[in-house]
Amino acid sequence: MKSQSKNKAPLRVGVVGMGGIGNTHASAHKQDPLSKLVAVCDVVKDKATAAAKTHGVKAYTSLKEMLAHEDLDIVDVTTGGYENGSWHFEPTMEALAAGKHVLCEKPLSNDIGEAREMVREAEKRKLYLGCNLNHYFTPTAERARKYMADGQVGELIYLLFKVGFNGGEETYGFNPSPRFNQPYAHMKAFLTHPFSVMRHFCGDITHVQSFSSRPGFRKNKGDLLVSVNSVHVTFANGTIGYLLSQRGDAVWGLGGWWSCEVAGSKGSFCIENCIERLTYWPAPKPGQSFGLGQGPTPEILDTGIKDFGVTFPRRIHAFLEDVTNGVPRDHLRSSARDALATLEYIWAVIESYEQGGVLVRPHSLPPMHGDPKTERI
Ligand SMILES: NC(=O)c1ccc[n+]([C@@H]2O[C@H](COP(=O)([O-])OP(=O)(O)OC[C@H]3O[C@@H](n4cnc5c(N)ncnc54)[C@H](O)[C@@H]3O)[C@@H](O)[C@H]2O)c1
Repeated sequence: MKSQSKNKAPLRVGVVGMGGIGNTHASAHKQDPLSKLVAVCDVVKDKATAAAKTHGVKAYTSLKEMLAHEDLDIVDVTTGGYENGSWHFEPTMEALAAGKHVLCEKPLSNDIGEAREMVREAEKRKLYLGCNLNHYFTPTAERARKYMADGQVGELIYLLFKVGFNGGEETYGFNPSPRFNQPYAHMKAFLTHPFSVMRHFCGDITHVQSFSSRPGFRKNKGDLLVSVNSVHVTFANGTIGYLLSQRGDAVWGLGGWWSCEVAGSKGSFCIENCIERLTYWPAPKPGQSFGLGQGPTPEILDTGIKDFGVTFPRRIHAFLEDVTNGVPRDHLRSSARDALATLEYIWAVIESYEQGGVLVRPHSLPPMHGDPKTERI
C-alpha cells in the first residue's frame, strides 16, 4: 500500500444504504485513521437508526438531508436495487452535484448508459469517483503484480479465471427477487469482479465471445438467471484469456471461490481463493531439464486468510489514501473508469450471448485527459 499523508485531518464520510455491505463499509471507516464516519443514511428508517446506533453516528433517511446538515468530504454509496446495482446512480449523481467525492459499490450501475454518465459527471466536476473493486486489494494480487514488475512473468501468454459460488442442486433455492431473478443479474452484478482482476493483470480487453447457460434445476423453477458464463477474450496487448463463472450451480472445485492463473514466458502464477494463496512457477532455465509433469520448485505465498471480508477495509483504505494524497484523478485506484471498463465487457458478453456467440468488440472507454495542475509531462 502507498504511504498515507501525514498531518491531514481525517476525511469526513457519510455512508448511504445501510444493508450488510453499508455496515461493512461503515465499520471500515470507523477503524481507518484516514476517515471519520460522521453519518449514515437509509431510506428505511429502522435500518438508518439501527446502523447509527451500531456505529455511534447520526442517522438520516435522505441523502439530501444528510448533505444539507453534515460537512462531508466523501459520500460512500452502498445501495443495492434491481440486479444489485440500480440504486447507485441517483445517490452518486446527487453527491457529485453537491461537490463530494464518491466511493460507489459495484456495479457502477445495472445500466450502461447511467454508468457512462456517472463517469462523465465526476470528470466534469473534477471529483474522485471510485468503485469498490475490492478483489485485487489483497496480499496475493500485490505479490503477483510484483512478480510481473520484477520481470519474473515476462511476456504475458494467457490468463485463466474461474469463479464459482460453492453450491449444487441440493442447496439451490429459487430467489424470486428482481435483484436476482433477471437474466443478466449475475453478469451485471458479479462479473465486474473477475473482469476487474483480469484487467488489473493484463490490461484492456478488445474482443469478447461468450456462451452462457443455466442448469435444468433452475429452468424447472422458472428461474431466469443466466448463471453459467463461458467467456473467451483477447487483451489489447495480445494476451488471450478465458473466464468461467457460475453462481452456486456446482461445487467449486480446485482454486476455491475463484482462481486466476496468469502464464508468462518467464513464469506463471495462480491466485487461489482470492486472498488465500498465490503460487509462482518459474520457467525452466537453460540447461535445466525436467520430466513431463515436473519443473522448478514453485514459490508459495499462503496468507492463511480465507475471509474475503478482509478485502473491504483494504480497498476502502486505498481510496482514502488516494483522496488524502490528492492523487491525479486518473491515477485513482479502482476508479469509476476502471469499473466502467468491466461493465463494457459485460455488455459485450450479453450481446455475444444473445447473438449465439458472435465476436463482440466492447465499447471504447472515455479518453483520459489528465490535469495540467497535477501532471508533469
Ligand atoms: N464489493 C463486494 O464485494 C460486494 C459484495 C456484496 C454486495 N456488493 C454490492 O453492495 C451493494 C449493497 O448490497 P447489500 O447486500 O448491502 O444491499 P441491501 O439491499 O441489503 O442494502 C441496500 C440498502 O440501501 C438502501 N437504499 C436504497 N436506495 C437508497 C437511497 N437512495 N438512499 C438511502 N438508502 C437507500 C436500502 O433501503 C437498503 O437498506 C450492492 O450494489 C451489491 O452489488 C458488493
